[in-house]
Amino acid sequence: MYSVGSSLGSKCYALDAWHNDLLRGPLLEQTDGIMKIMYDEMAFAIDAYLDVTRNEWKEASVDDFVRDIVSRTSSRFIVGLPLCRDEAYLGAARESISVYMLDTTRHNISKLRRADSLARETMRLRNYGSRITFRKVMATQGITTPLLDEHMQQGRNGVVLPWGTAVSWFSMPAQRDEDAYEEAEKFNPFRFEWKLEALSTDSAKQNLGDGGGKVELAKFSTTSMQHLGFGHGSHACPGRFLADGQLKMLMAYLVVNYDLRFPEEYAGVRPANLWIAEGQMPPAAARFRVRRRLKTAS
Ligand code: HEM
Repeated sequence: MYSVGSSLGSKCYALDAWHNDLLRGPLLEQTDGIMKIMYDEMAFAIDAYLDVTRNEWKEASVDDFVRDIVSRTSSRFIVGLPLCRDEAYLGAARESISVYMLDTTRHNISKLRRADSLARETMRLRNYGSRITFRKVMATQGITTPLLDEHMQQGRNGVVLPWGTAVSWFSMPAQRDEDAYEEAEKFNPFRFEWKLEALSTDSAKQNLGDGGGKVELAKFSTTSMQHLGFGHGSHACPGRFLADGQLKMLMAYLVVNYDLRFPEEYAGVRPANLWIAEGQMPPAAARFRVRRRLKTAS
């Protein structure tokens, strides 16, 4: 809150939720147009940053690369040209950007099912912060937490939370729950892709999202009690559709136009995330090797 107040000049930008309405309404409707513009900027930014010619391997920092591309791409739709390519402006944007954030119509992007599954599986095991969903009890009479059937049968009572109580809950145990996910601790990049076919049925759709459903039948942007990376409920992240599109465009552009690999010394193993208290973050020193592909799909 302090940094919002000092960098934007007023805390009202954080306390007044006008931007939520903007994201849920007009911006969501214009997502296709925004994606097109962002893709244009992303292609320009990636090529400019990597600056590699054919047949030449080059090493780059993951952290630096993500900050650069995300700040340029997001800035294209937030402040537009020419400011989004202005080095002084970008310097400030890169400083403030977080690495967790990362044909282009939503319809076409939704066809990238493997990329979708990979993103969801990455978020399931490696989302930032185990405790990322916070709520405050607003009902003046307070609330009593609901009980599972089995607990009710045991004669237990819910916990009474008076007005004003701050509540938060952990996402990691839910996202690694063996009852919800097969081999829950295993990183299985196409775990969700295999199940997406079933999403076409109405009964499958109804099963989603309430904690009792088939949690593996889900897209990246679907929130549920077992997938809390974007939160859940009426305050779930309204920017997730934009983030979803941006992430997939980045992955698609990279794999179509570049060969990518880990540096030899990683021996094929992704460097571990860094945990600080309840938060985990990508390894800041991680690098990747990149080479322009001989045939590009331009
Ligand atoms: C990968 C990227 C992102 C992640 C992981 C993320 C995650 C989250 C989470 C966990 C919440 C809290 C939800 C809850 O309490 O239930 C949230 C809220 C929010 N996010 Fe995101 N977010 C991302 C990208 C974005 C983007 C790109 C925007 C804007 C364009 C955005 C705008 C918001 C807003 C306005 C809220 C507050 C919603 C509310 O309180 O009703 N987010 N986000």
